[in-house]
Amino acid sequence: MRVLITGGSGFVGQRLCQQLIAQGHDVQVVSRTPHDVRGKLPKACDIRDSAQAFVDTPPDALVNLAGESIAAKRWSAEQKERLIRSRVESTQQLIALCEQLAANGQPLPKVMVSGSAMGYYGDQGSKVVDESTSPHDEFAHRLCAQWEAAAKPIEAMGVRLAVLRIGLVLEAGGGTLQKMLPPFKLGLGGRFGDGTQFMPWIHRDDLVAAIMFLINEPTLSGAFNGSAPHPVTNAEFTQTLAKQLHRPAMFPVPAFVLKAGFGEMSQLLLTGADMRPARLSEAGFHFQYPTLKQALAAIL
Ligand SMILES: NC(=O)c1ccc[n+]([C@@H]2O[C@H](COP(=O)([O-])OP(=O)(O)OC[C@H]3O[C@@H](n4cnc5c(N)ncnc54)[C@H](OP(=O)(O)O)[C@@H]3O)[C@@H](O)[C@H]2O)c1
Repeated sequence: MRVLITGGSGFVGQRLCQQLIAQGHDVQVVSRTPHDVRGKLPKACDIRDSAQAFVDTPPDALVNLAGESIAAKRWSAEQKERLIRSRVESTQQLIALCEQLAANGQPLPKVMVSGSAMGYYGDQGSKVVDESTSPHDEFAHRLCAQWEAAAKPIEAMGVRLAVLRIGLVLEAGGGTLQKMLPPFKLGLGGRFGDGTQFMPWIHRDDLVAAIMFLINEPTLSGAFNGSAPHPVTNAEFTQTLAKQLHRPAMFPVPAFVLKAGFGEMSQLLLTGADMRPARLSEAGFHFQYPTLKQALAAIL
């Protein structure tokens, strides 16, 4: 199978590319800077600077992961626009590729697995959240809703669409854990605010497996929560991580400090959703790392 990935050079994308190549698939990566990301990806990856550049070699499946990092900078009006535009425009490039393939009479991909995030649901307090839960209206929701809406037109072209609302992706060497580990290793970690906010998480290998599962199961379409079946609160996450590192976690960061430091972006740390992967579980997806303890033990 030939799989085209936007954001293939990222924390999730790199692992996905490795797994696909190891399984004998052909991998195409869209990157803004093909030359710069060459060293991050297996040699066999075909890297080009736009989706349309692959019109000569039509992919069988699309995976859409590209987007400006959500926690890179404070959410100014300009940065919010960049977060939305980077995702919507990358998604539109994939639609444009399919339109061009259709116009040329070439075969279309069978499926697109398109990114979204737990932020789709916004702050849900302690309510159990599945794919049918109504979202709370806030910036994270609007960002994800626009990202998901940009992917929708691909269905009218007969391409199966699965949207993956991804939780915090855990693995060494990147993502949230890379930022949390240094203070925790020094025994300077602690919960954020009162610690009752939920942090749905997923081991990166389970996320990659879920993407491949959605590619390969021809009956699955619509939204899927991409997080482990046992989400934890921030306080539980803090305690589990500290225990795994054999360090204390006695330095909580008060909510007002996070709000002062990060502005509206502090919502990422102070609010969340008890998100469960109801549709993946119903479909029979098996999580290799269902509990945080298992995931952190494997990672650390
Ligand atoms: N990691 C998590 O915990 C997590 C949680 C929920 C959702 N997600 C979402 O899942 C996707 C993959 O996550 P990740 O951790 O692998 O992300 P990542 O490491 O930040 O990689 C995303 C990729 O998107 C491309 N990109 C960055 N800024 C861009 C921009 N302004 N315009 C267009 N493309 C841009 C980059 O590729 P090039 O530089 O090669 O162009 C980058 O490699 C992201 O969209 C993220 O929002 C991630």
